[in-house]
Amino acid sequence: MPDFRVASRRRFLVCEPRHFAVRYAINPWMHPDRPVDVALAQRQWRKLIDTYREHGHTVETVKPEPALPDMVFAANAAVVVAGRVFGSLFRAPERRPESVPYEAWFKAEGYEVHHSESVCEGEGDLVPAGRWILAGTGFRTTPRAHREAQEFFGVPVIGLTLVDPYFYHLDTALFTLDEENVAYYPEAFSPGSREVLARLYPDAVLATREDAMAFGLNSVSDGRHVFVSPGATALAARLADRGYVPVPVDLSEFHKAGGSIKCCTQEIRS
Ligand code: ARG
Repeated sequence: MPDFRVASRRRFLVCEPRHFAVRYAINPWMHPDRPVDVALAQRQWRKLIDTYREHGHTVETVKPEPALPDMVFAANAAVVVAGRVFGSLFRAPERRPESVPYEAWFKAEGYEVHHSESVCEGEGDLVPAGRWILAGTGFRTTPRAHREAQEFFGVPVIGLTLVDPYFYHLDTALFTLDEENVAYYPEAFSPGSREVLARLYPDAVLATREDAMAFGLNSVSDGRHVFVSPGATALAARLADRGYVPVPVDLSEFHKAGGSIKCCTQEIRS
């Protein structure tokens, strides 16, 4: 296998899981009666941050709020493309207040925040993919927010319909490998959206249901290294076949809230 994949340095925004918990259920993974080991979650999260830094990426943090147990899922708070910040309007009332500390972080960094008028969950559903933005709908982010994002960024937004409640955010069913290609789990999408993906990405890396249930599609790629759940074994093998370098990072404690690597990572694109 020729070694031709090139990594690019990224800037990530994350939030320490000091107050991480499952106190309500807004997706099928969440069971408030099942205990969460916060100390383990903190160790797993720390390992993710160390791994990003070891690979040359910049990691910035927003201060966690005690009343917001899902705040660790930084990807959901906004989408940033070319320095423009499209701030979220969370669907669940429990998560709506998360917008406040994230907005404060962006403002302190000198960014202006545009607020979505319709339900929009940031990079959970809006996935910048080179020349366009892929956008999920069906469970959280609305088609109205897709249109608003297109108008705001001036970038084509391609709507995709999610149909399986286990994969309620686009970033649980698809991730970008680089500017040109993606990996995804086809059955998470409506038949029409599957066709759209097949047209746009004839060479996509396809994942199995086992990969998807192991949060293998909730990965972060820098163009060469793919930070991926260790449970997604078939996917990791396919990625390696294509010249990517899988870097396993276990965030199993966060799966209890319906999130993993990508959910914990927001990319700041300047
Ligand atoms: N408990 C959170 C929710 O249901 C998990 C969010 C996961 N984030 C993601 N980008 N998929 O909203």
